[in-house]
Amino acid sequence: MNILLNVPAAKPPYLAARKALELGPDKVIDQLKLSGLSGRGGAGFPAGVKWDTVKNASASPKYLIINAEESEPGTFKDRQLLTENPHAVIEGALIGALTTGCTQGYIYIRPDYRAPAKAFAKALEEARKDGLLGKNAAGSGKHFDIEVCHGGGAYICGEETALINSLEGKRGEPNTKPPFPANEGFKGKPTLLSNVETFAYVPWILLNGAETYALLGVNGCKGMRLFSVSGDVAKPGNYELPVGVTARELIFKHAGGMRDGKKLKAFIPGGASSSPLPPELLDTPMDFKPLAAAGSMLGSGAVVAISDEHSMLDVARNVMGFFEDESCGKCSPCRIGCVKINEMLDEPATLGAKQPLLNELADGVMQGSLCGLGMAAPNVVKGGLKYWARDFAGK
Ligand SMILES: Cc1cc2nc3c(=O)[nH]c(=O)nc-3n(C[C@H](O)[C@H](O)[C@H](O)COP(=O)(O)O)c2cc1C
Ligand code: SF4
Repeated sequence: MNILLNVPAAKPPYLAARKALELGPDKVIDQLKLSGLSGRGGAGFPAGVKWDTVKNASASPKYLIINAEESEPGTFKDRQLLTENPHAVIEGALIGALTTGCTQGYIYIRPDYRAPAKAFAKALEEARKDGLLGKNAAGSGKHFDIEVCHGGGAYICGEETALINSLEGKRGEPNTKPPFPANEGFKGKPTLLSNVETFAYVPWILLNGAETYALLGVNGCKGMRLFSVSGDVAKPGNYELPVGVTARELIFKHAGGMRDGKKLKAFIPGGASSSPLPPELLDTPMDFKPLAAAGSMLGSGAVVAISDEHSMLDVARNVMGFFEDESCGKCSPCRIGCVKINEMLDEPATLGAKQPLLNELADGVMQGSLCGLGMAAPNVVKGGLKYWARDFAGK
C-alpha cells in the first residue's frame, strides 16, 4: 500500500492535527515511539525520542526546521514528496510544532528545487487561508508558521548543524555535537529539525494508529519508507515500500531489474555515503540494523545498482571526488584525507601495492573527522577494497 506517493494528495482541513490537539503532546509522542518512525535524513534517529527531547527542553522560543536540502547523491524522494504531497509535510510539521512547543518553522530547500519550493509555498498559502498556520494555528491558540528558505547548494548544508549555521547567515559548516539541535539549535534554542519524509508520515500515523503503521514493515522491521532507486536499473524512481524489503525486491521486482540485461556487480544501499555491497547480500532487509550488520548503512534509503561494466575503482573515484569537493574544510582529517585518498585512486599503477595504506588512510579519515561527511566518505573505498580488491589491484 502507499501512504505518501502515488496517492491523492493530502489537503486541508488537517484532521490529524485536530486529533493531535485532542490527544495532547504526551500521547502523540507515545504514538510516534510505538510506530517506530525513524528519521529519514540518514541517521535514523527515533522521531518520538527527538520530539520528547524538544518538548521537555525548558528554553524558549523553540524552532522547527524541515530539512529539504536532499543533497545525498542518489536521493530524490523529498523532491517528489514536496511537489506532489506538500500538505502531508506541512501537517506533520504543524503537529510537531504543537506537540513540542515550536512557534516558528523554516523549510531549508536546495536552490535548484524550484518546482518543489513553488508547490510547497502554494500549499503554505492554502493552509494559512484555512487558519491552519498563523496566529491561532489550527485553532490551537498558538502561533506557528513556516518560512521558505534556500541554501546555496552545498552538500554539507544538509548536515543539521551546518544547516542551522547557514540559516543563521553564518558559514555553512558543522559544529561538534553535543549539544544537539533538539537542545541547542537555531539561535541557540531547542529546535525540532527533521527530514521532509519524517514529518510527512506523522499525520497518517496519528489517524490510522501507530501499531497499524508499524505492522506494515516486513522481515521484523516497522513501517513504510521511500526508497530512491537509480543506476543501471530499468525503471529508476521513487518507491514507497515496507521497511525491511530486500534490495533484491527493490531492484529486480519494483525497479524492473537491470537495464538491457546487464549483470549486477554491486549495489549501494543508502546513498553515496554508504558502503557498496555485493550481489550475495541482496537479501539483506533494508533497515538500519540489518544493513549495519552487513557492513553498510540504510542512510537516506537511496539504492544505486551498479552493473559489471563498471570498475569499482571508477565508482570510488567518482564518489570520493564528490566528497573532496564538498568537504567544508573545517577539520584536517577530512580536508586533507579526502585529497590524499583521491591522489592514490588516481594512480592505478601503484595502487595494488598501496592497498593496505589506502585502507589505513580511509580508517584515519573516518575516525578523525568531525562530522558525518568525513566519517562516511571513505566507505566506498573500504567496501571496494573488501569485495572488489582486483579492481584496485593496479594495471
Ligand atoms: C554530510 C551530511 C549531509 C546530510 N544531508 C542531509 C540532507 O540532505 N537531508 C536530510 O534530511 N538530512 C541530511 N543529513 C542528516 C541531518 O544531519 C539530520 O540528521 C537529519 O536532517 C535529521 O532529520 P531526521 O531525524 O528526520 O532524519 C546529513 C548529514 C550529513 C552528515
Ligand atoms: S568532516 Fe569534512 S565536512 Fe565535516 S566538518 Fe570536517 S572538513 Fe567539514
